[in-house]
Amino acid sequence: MKTLLVTGGAGFLGSHLCERLLAAGHDVLCVDNFFTGTKANVAHLMEHPRFELLRHDITFPLYVEVDEIYNLACPASPIHYQFDPVQTTKTSVHGAINMLGLAKRVKAKILQASTSEVYGDPEVHPQTEGYWGRVNPVGPRSCYDEGKRCAETLFFDYWRQHRLRIKVVRIFNTYGPRMLPHDGRVVSNFIVQALRGDDITIYGEGMQTRSFCYVDDLIDAMIRVMATADDFTGPINIGNPREFTILELAQAVLRLTGSRSRLVFKPLPADDPKQRQPDIALAEKMLDWSPTVELDCGLEKTVSYFKAQLQTGERETLDLAR
Ligand SMILES: NC(=O)c1ccc[n+]([C@@H]2O[C@H](COP(=O)([O-])OP(=O)(O)OC[C@H]3O[C@@H](n4cnc5c(N)ncnc54)[C@H](O)[C@@H]3O)[C@@H](O)[C@H]2O)c1
Repeated sequence: MKTLLVTGGAGFLGSHLCERLLAAGHDVLCVDNFFTGTKANVAHLMEHPRFELLRHDITFPLYVEVDEIYNLACPASPIHYQFDPVQTTKTSVHGAINMLGLAKRVKAKILQASTSEVYGDPEVHPQTEGYWGRVNPVGPRSCYDEGKRCAETLFFDYWRQHRLRIKVVRIFNTYGPRMLPHDGRVVSNFIVQALRGDDITIYGEGMQTRSFCYVDDLIDAMIRVMATADDFTGPINIGNPREFTILELAQAVLRLTGSRSRLVFKPLPADDPKQRQPDIALAEKMLDWSPTVELDCGLEKTVSYFKAQLQTGERETLDLAR
């Protein structure tokens, strides 16, 4: 049994990770400033004897004794990371420095939740870990993309300079229960719009492709990465390589919700990548892992979650978030 720190543990991915780590028998310290995470996401864990929740902003130092750190804290959707872009960069960069400093002090192993956004609008397809990316350093998405790139740099410098045990995971589009409604992420947007009977907004002609990984597959891979030998640092892509157009996703959501929403088309936002697909050969080899949840199955679980939210009094949350 280990003591594990999950920053951003009250968020979408973090809350699923806390659950899985507790189930594996570990002590879990969940740290979050509740910017995009909620206590409701971890409410079911609060009575667990090995779970602890701490309100803390990782742009400030943290002094705790832990064996491993999963660094997930950072708003992940454009609406949230563009709300206060300076704070977003601080969370990625100062947050990484603080968590790496902690890992160094207590000799903990540390994993960074990086992102496929480090590849920017890629010229190669699918993206392998060796591709350096094509990122705009001065656009509205840069606070997130460049912040995450700088965090990766810091991780590798701590590894080179201080021999810290690091793992860098590049996460591609992941979806599932506990995503926030109306946060600009395409899966939750489409589902909520469909459940309400609102128009479904498609940017461009909907022919841009995305790959969607169900949260359970992602968490499984993340835990496997942490367990790899110390000489394995990553970066390693985690995602589902199966590609769908945005239009296909919208149609699947309409089918699974039985909704009669209309599809409406709007101009593509600046810097929106047209195509993004992980090459997961490294993950398959190093982790003996590949995603197992089909899109329809994952979407069904996500639709059920949002349906329950709408039906059980969380309606106000959805209304407020509009
Ligand atoms: N979900 C995805 O598809 C995806 C894809 C690529 C990368 N990621 C990365 O995975 C991580 C988790 O993403 P998510 O989808 O769960 O997003 P999320 O917004 O649900 O979770 C982020 C969590 O971090 C917390 N947080 C933000 N700033 C903080 C700070 N300064 N101090 C402490 N806590 C802070 C938020 O309150 C939230 O609980 C992020 O680092 C994100 O960049 C996610």
